[in-house]
Amino acid sequence: MSDRSLLILPGDGIGPEVMAEVRKVIAWYGDKRGLDFDVSEDLVGGAAYDAHGTPLTDATMDKAQEVDAVLLGAVGGPQYDDLDFGVKPERGLLRLRKEMDLFANLRPAQCFDALADFSSLKRDVVAGLDIVIVRELTSGIYFGEPRGIITENNERVGINTQRYTESEIERVARAAFDLAMKRGKKLCSMEKANVMESGILWREVVTEVGKDYPDVALSHMYADAGAMQLCRWPKQFDVIVTDNLFGDLLSDAAAMLTGSLGMLPSASLGLPMANGRPKAMYEPVHGSAPDIAGQGKANPIACVLSFAMALRYSFDEGAEADRLEQAVNQVLADGLRTADLLGEEGVEPVSTIQMGDAIVAALDASL
Ligand code: IPM
Ligand code: MG
Repeated sequence: MSDRSLLILPGDGIGPEVMAEVRKVIAWYGDKRGLDFDVSEDLVGGAAYDAHGTPLTDATMDKAQEVDAVLLGAVGGPQYDDLDFGVKPERGLLRLRKEMDLFANLRPAQCFDALADFSSLKRDVVAGLDIVIVRELTSGIYFGEPRGIITENNERVGINTQRYTESEIERVARAAFDLAMKRGKKLCSMEKANVMESGILWREVVTEVGKDYPDVALSHMYADAGAMQLCRWPKQFDVIVTDNLFGDLLSDAAAMLTGSLGMLPSASLGLPMANGRPKAMYEPVHGSAPDIAGQGKANPIACVLSFAMALRYSFDEGAEADRLEQAVNQVLADGLRTADLLGEEGVEPVSTIQMGDAIVAALDASL
C-alpha cells in the first residue's frame, strides 16, 4: 500500500477521455520516479445519476473525505438539462466542495510561450502572463440562505443570498497571502464594497489579515473594474483574491487570456488532515464539452496540469510538478496541438491519446 491515495472521478463528457491520459502520467510516476499512488475510481455527475439516481452517492462522498486528493474530470451535459435542480450533475461537484470544506480555489492563468498567439488579446498583453486567482469556494451567494423560488403578491420571486462571515473571509485571505508570499508578493482583493455590505466586510477583514503579511503589497479593486483591468493589462496582477461568484466570472475571463480553456488546471484546498496534507480536489477549469466528447479531440493538458498541482500541493513534490509542467511546455514547443489549439498554418491536430503519449515521452526524456 502506498501512503499516497487518490480518488479519480472522471465524470461526464470529455472527463473520462482526459482522465485516461492522466492515468498514464500517474503510472509513469510510479514506474520511473518511485512515487506510487493508491488509485481508486468512482462516478460523479451525470454518470453517477445514470447509475444511482444521484450525482454523488454517500459512499463516494465518504471515499472523497478519506483520500489525500480527489482528481475530478468534468460534470454535466445537455441530456441532464431537464433534471430536477437537486440532482443536476453540478450538485455533485458542489456537494464535494462544500462537505470537504474546500474553501480556497486556486486558479492559475498562465500563458505558455508557444500559445501566446492564441489569445484573443494581443501577444504583448498576454505573453509571459502568470497569475493566480484565489476564489472562495464554499460560501457566498452559491450557498447562502435564504434561497429558492417563492411566490409573493401573485408572482414568483427568485432568491439567493450573499453572505460571508469574518472567519470565512479570513481563512481564504490567509491562503491568498501565503500564496503571494511564495510568488511575487503582490495581492489584489476584489469585491464590490461600493454597493455590498459583504464587500465592505470583505475589504476590512482582508486589510486586517494583511497586517500579518507586511511583505505583501495589498491592493483593493471593485470587481467590475478588476474585470476591465484583467483584459486591459493582466500582467499588473500576481495573486487575486475574491469571493465565490466574482471568482467564477473573473477566472473564466482570465482563462481566456491564455488562449484556451483547455489548458488551465485548478486546485481546491481545505484544512489540513491528520497526516498534515490539506483536504484537496483538483480539476481542470474547462467543462465537459459534450459537443466533442467521445471523439478523441479533447485537450488533456488542463487535467494533466491539475495532477501537477496535486503533486505540488498535496504531496509536496514541487520538483516533480515542475518536471510535469516542463514536459507540457516541451510538447507545445514541439508544435503538438489538439483541435482546440489550431490556427497555425499547416498544423494537423493530434488526438487526446497522442497528446497524452507525447507528454509521457517528454517525461521520459527529462530523466
Ligand atoms: C466552475 C463551474 C462551476 C461553478 C459549475 C459547474 C457549478 O463554473 O467550477 O467554475 O459555477 O463553480
Ligand atoms: Mg465557472
